[in-house]
Amino acid sequence: MFIEKLALNNYRNYDNADITFSDGINILYGDNAQGKTNILEAVYMTATTKSHRGSKDKDIIGFGSDESHIKTELKKNDISHRIDIHLRKNKSKGIAIDMIPIKRSADLFGMINIILFSPEDLTIIKDGPSERRRFMDMELCQLNRIYYNNLSTYNKILNQRNNQLKDDMYGKNRDILDVWDSQLIDYGLKIIKDRNNFIDMINEIIVDIHRVLTNDKEELRLVYDKNVSEDNFAIELCNKRDMDIRLMSTSVGPHRDDISFMINDIDVRKYGSQGQQRTVALSLKLAEIELVKKIINDNPILLLDDVMSELDSTRRDALLSSISNIQTIITCTGYDDFIKERLSIDKIYKVEQGKILGGNYE
Ligand SMILES: Nc1ncnc2c1ncn2[C@@H]1O[C@H](COP(=O)(O)OP(=O)(O)OP(=O)(O)O)[C@@H](O)[C@H]1O
Ligand SMILES: [Mg+2]
Repeated sequence: MFIEKLALNNYRNYDNADITFSDGINILYGDNAQGKTNILEAVYMTATTKSHRGSKDKDIIGFGSDESHIKTELKKNDISHRIDIHLRKNKSKGIAIDMIPIKRSADLFGMINIILFSPEDLTIIKDGPSERRRFMDMELCQLNRIYYNNLSTYNKILNQRNNQLKDDMYGKNRDILDVWDSQLIDYGLKIIKDRNNFIDMINEIIVDIHRVLTNDKEELRLVYDKNVSEDNFAIELCNKRDMDIRLMSTSVGPHRDDISFMINDIDVRKYGSQGQQRTVALSLKLAEIELVKKIINDNPILLLDDVMSELDSTRRDALLSSISNIQTIITCTGYDDFIKERLSIDKIYKVEQGKILGGNYE
């Protein structure tokens, strides 16, 4: 699959922009704060309906406007499609696939598969657990609509339970908590099962990738650090109930899950050097690309936001050799010699104050 055209109206610092992409390597370069990441964000929204930066719709709409529009034309299995996303202030967004409006965001998932790699991803190992959960969730949601629905429902139930804990400080209405607990367990178990599978699948792929990146020195394995095992969920939730009432929040469940990274059985999060942690992060991204390829039986679209300058030459080579045949959109401040030599660039644009300049590379 690849994106052929992107048109933006009142999106961030773009009043109007039209870009044509090649199915190969596309470069967007320009100084800081000109709008490079904004383009990648718009592409990412086309796949997931959300900003990868976690921004709210009203903050994405161009200053002084009430609406914003992203139009994407893509090709998938040789068939052209069009996706329209309308962002509106204080209203939910409108989405249409091939001019037919869809009711739920989840109906868009799977239409385009995007993998975004930014410098923040390089710190995923040492960041807090929420970043690692986000990694699993963002990928699982794109690959599996049922997971997205289960996760949304789980989060709603969790919210209700937490509100109940706040409203009922002395825990008088225990039967209401019973209802939330049983639903939390129902949906929580589904999430744990899918995350388990996801980690297993990544593990099958990542060992070889990481071996190559470390000249056969390191054996990498991910461990899914469940906050609670399937068998103990009900009992733990019950055991921690009094504590939850005191603290007014839910302490048991997959919303507290984490991932550990083990190299030759040593925990990289605790003992790994900074370089080691970054290599693991890169292996994780490369494994994600391979996994998505395998599952969708097609090539996902890769967005590399300013990540080249963050990697040394060995790691850059590893990344670049894994992007053949994949539509890639790369942002950088200056397209340095390395990129010119190593990549055959198909399109190159300069981004300047919300305008896209140039196009064809000679
Ligand atoms: N809702 C908005 N309306 C108008 N402009 C916005 C809006 N949100 C962000 N901007 C502007 O977008 C610009 C930042 O764009 P972006 O993050 O794409 O920059 P960049 O080119 O990726 O820069 P860097 O190289 O520093 O990462 C800023 O100038 C910011 O003021
Ligand atoms: Mg940027």
